[in-house]
Amino acid sequence: MGKHGVEILDLNVEELIGMLNQALAEEWLAYYQYWIGARVMEGPMRSEVEPELLLHANQELGHAVLVVGRIIQLGGTPVLNPAQWPKLSRCDYDEPNDPYIQVILEQNLKGERCAIQRYKEIADFTNGKDHATHAMATTILNEELEHEQDIEDWLTDLDRLKEDLRRSACKLAVRGVCQTKVGCQMISILPLEEMVLVTVPPGVLSSLVTLVITV
Ligand SMILES: [Fe+2]
Ligand SMILES: [Fe+2]
Repeated sequence: MGKHGVEILDLNVEELIGMLNQALAEEWLAYYQYWIGARVMEGPMRSEVEPELLLHANQELGHAVLVVGRIIQLGGTPVLNPAQWPKLSRCDYDEPNDPYIQVILEQNLKGERCAIQRYKEIADFTNGKDHATHAMATTILNEELEHEQDIEDWLTDLDRLKEDLRRSACKLAVRGVCQTKVGCQMISILPLEEMVLVTVPPGVLSSLVTLVITV
């Protein structure tokens, strides 16, 4: 940025550059969290959610482009070494060791809430003092809020899917398709991924097995 552009800012520019570099590190980690999570993810709704997670990943990269551009405009140096990302980031990178969709989504949700806090702080810090950074921070903040909402909606859909399945299994049990009521109760308290194991053993009719496996 030209000298005058920096001189008119009514705030500590070095402190702001520091915050923006933290945000930049967080964006890269968020990108990889989404990108690798989408690729290893397993479970119901996977085919619907995967492209949306990859879209979120690309939007995080878009945020990194905006942030790095502003750091340079302010006369700062963007973080140059990826080894610095986890040191600068306040948001955790959660290794997706468990590929179950609900776990992946909860990891991403945690990251979004961390990003929302980051851009709120940058927006507060620059409000009325650095209009350009403030506008950028609120633009990114709005996208992070949309990301949070998307993930919360998928988690709600996933819970409903599980609940519908439990109800269906119980209805079948009441109609005598499932072995016993005890079996129904067992099914109703088990997480979805374990239900297949419960219903596969002999004695359970194939319709129920098919129902569970296809979800
Ligand atoms: Fe972001
Ligand atoms: Fe996001």
